[in-house]
Amino acid sequence: MTARVAFVTGGAQGIGAGISQTLGANGFRVAVADLNLEVAQDTAERIGQAGGTAIAVHVDVTDTESVRSAVKTVAAELGEVEIAVNNAGWDDFMPFLKTTEDFWDRILDINFKGALRVSQAVVPGMVERGFGRVVNIGSDAGRVGSSLEAVYSGAKGGIIAFSKTLAREVATKGVTVNTVCPGPTDTPALRKFADASGQEADKVIGGMTRSVPMKRLADPADIAAAVAFFASDAASYITGQTLSVSGGLTMA
Ligand SMILES: NC(=O)c1ccc[n+]([C@@H]2O[C@H](COP(=O)([O-])OP(=O)(O)OC[C@H]3O[C@@H](n4cnc5c(N)ncnc54)[C@H](O)[C@@H]3O)[C@@H](O)[C@H]2O)c1
Repeated sequence: MTARVAFVTGGAQGIGAGISQTLGANGFRVAVADLNLEVAQDTAERIGQAGGTAIAVHVDVTDTESVRSAVKTVAAELGEVEIAVNNAGWDDFMPFLKTTEDFWDRILDINFKGALRVSQAVVPGMVERGFGRVVNIGSDAGRVGSSLEAVYSGAKGGIIAFSKTLAREVATKGVTVNTVCPGPTDTPALRKFADASGQEADKVIGGMTRSVPMKRLADPADIAAAVAFFASDAASYITGQTLSVSGGLTMA
């Protein structure tokens, strides 16, 4: 079993909590890095109770200093970051023609530039040590588009292209970069979207579920399984890849 150090942004809840828990169960020492320190602490505690090793650390991925300082804290408390999972994300559903430039900036800052900031903070050390895994959480929206999510889809498409390019640049250094694209996943963000849709939340979720060939939403653990594989030593010859975990919804 590995004891490598993993840094999971947005690790407190939803998909990020699922990733943190799965990595913890697989022996990784996990830094649950989130804007919401209180919930991150609960998640880290649950990992500890299940026999894993985890700490909670505050991070705001829209702030370069905050990212650097979180990475430093993790290095001091757990060891140098060997696995970075860029999972923190945010969206609001809106027709593109109603969006504002402030909204574009917010979406890009969290969903796209957040991954750039974390990568710049941790990849140099990975290259120096000759080992690293970056796993970026994209979205099927970034592969095939998604109504009411034009800017978010662009940011996630950017994540996929960024991952491929960084993967090429560090390919000879023992560092891999891959993207996992979740389909509709049962998380607080999805429930919030359904509640705010103006229709009955159950109907919205029912519609999403019917569109998935497997006829169920993803559970965060489904996404986490793919992340854990890319993070593993066994995946050393796989880089620049984009994997949809969406019950067959996207087969591109
Ligand atoms: N849920 C889905 O259906 C779905 C589908 C495709 C892709 N995704 C992607 O998966 C990832 C996780 O989504 P989720 O549904 O679990 O979301 P969520 O809103 O339930 O959880 C997101 C977490 O990120 C944290 N976060 C937000 N902004 C942050 C910041 N600036 N710095 C640090 N942490 C921050 C939040 O505190 C929260 O803990 C996102 O990148 C999202 O775009 C989700």
